[in-house]
Amino acid sequence: MLDQNRTPYVDALIEFARSEPGRFNVPGHQGGVGADRSLFELVGQIGLTNDIPALIEGIDVGEPNPFQEAQHLAAEAWGAKRTWFLLNGASQGNQAMCMAVAHMGAELVVQRNVHSSVIDGMIMAGLKPTFAAPEIDPELGIAHCLTPETLTEALDRCPDAAAAIVVSPTYFGASADVAALADVAHSRGVPLVVDESWGAHLHFHPDLPQSAINAGADLVVSSTHKIVGSLTQSAMIHLSSDRFEAEIIDRCVSMTESTSPNSLLCGSLDAARRQAAVYGEELLTETIAALSEARSEIRSIDGLDVLDESLLRQKSVIGWDPLRLTIDARGTGTTGYRIAALGRQLANINLELTSDTVAVAVFGIGTGNPARVLRLVDGVIAAVDHIGAEPPSTKPEFAPPPPWGEPAMTPRDAFLGAQDVVPFTEAEGRISAEPLATYPPGIPNVLPGERLTRETLDFITDSIDHGGYVRGAADREMSTLRVVAE
Ligand SMILES: Cc1ncc(COP(=O)(O)O)c(C=O)c1O
Repeated sequence: MLDQNRTPYVDALIEFARSEPGRFNVPGHQGGVGADRSLFELVGQIGLTNDIPALIEGIDVGEPNPFQEAQHLAAEAWGAKRTWFLLNGASQGNQAMCMAVAHMGAELVVQRNVHSSVIDGMIMAGLKPTFAAPEIDPELGIAHCLTPETLTEALDRCPDAAAAIVVSPTYFGASADVAALADVAHSRGVPLVVDESWGAHLHFHPDLPQSAINAGADLVVSSTHKIVGSLTQSAMIHLSSDRFEAEIIDRCVSMTESTSPNSLLCGSLDAARRQAAVYGEELLTETIAALSEARSEIRSIDGLDVLDESLLRQKSVIGWDPLRLTIDARGTGTTGYRIAALGRQLANINLELTSDTVAVAVFGIGTGNPARVLRLVDGVIAAVDHIGAEPPSTKPEFAPPPPWGEPAMTPRDAFLGAQDVVPFTEAEGRISAEPLATYPPGIPNVLPGERLTRETLDFITDSIDHGGYVRGAADREMSTLRVVAE
């Protein structure tokens, strides 16, 4: 057992900075000496002092090696065999993971509503996906998880699968039966990869859904910054079995990261790991209690409801994460978008994700307390009161994302092949050469290689009109689209 109360990498950075080194290396601000004054306002002298480059003896080179120790501590904390720190988010984790899968074969089974970074990874790695559809909630218009039956059926269609990639928990906190999914995959000798970006905290409290590693996943991508509270963009990838080779993952992580890793991001992972491992259970107990209170308060507001353990009625869902507060806005006669926009305008509160039907507030591992719950509830009340005073509007049309287009070629062939650029409005029927994912939540509506339908093009336009944006297209204004030259 390692001492989880230590933060070796953070300590080594601080010790180095305190030694007042003569800085004649990168970064060019050299501890703040050459920084613009606005940068001091932004990150402070301490941030500039601790912005220390890679390859420094006693930090990440030589023995002992505090950087490696920090990763070992993280592996132990999450129950992994080996853990890598990632400085370009879980997006990097998904890309590296796809590269690692490609060493074992070209075909794989992928949950269709994976994050767009998995699609990018498949393009980079040249993988040929067989898609498995998640369970769709017809009332709320959101996707839940993958059932073991759907995975079985997808693996039947893809007997040479090198891996199966699933997402759990979802943006809305629904957890899949990862143990059963792992059984299905392993019974065919197929490794199971779980994108657990929204569940880095699950490992640290007995009342939360079981973590993917504990449930038997082989490789887990985790967006540590999302709930566990490291700095934005820092994340981890955990290996927990022999079904992947550590050396290959190592190579794929290096390939997808900068040769100038940021010490502050990296240090924040060491710090967040200590907080989760040592204080996680206590902090989560408080946060879970505060959120339970928040849910009852929001439920008592006329027209609002919240998603809770009722999610467990869904076939694909066996666990529910209470750190997501999903407000069901349907009873107010308006949309989740409108509630969130009014909350921002009237009370300066910012929610994580909105749709026609819901608005989702996210809490971190140690951020649920009565004062913050009050702030959220007051903001939501201000929004709902405002809506009540507006002239009655017609109830919003419920618009779930339309069915996915028919796949006509692999994502890589479409993305890298000969292309035409056509006006967005005239792209119907063409094969898309780029992925299109409306944000939030960043789930691809279109993959390279799929035929574009009128319904999907209209859905994307509607999403942009409601303040969303689209990731993946070369033309960020979305006036044109790149399609396969046929
Ligand atoms: C399921 C899932 N995977 C991966 C990512 C990418 O995470 P990051 O922003 O850390 O790159 C996200 C981001 O929202 C996500 O929801």
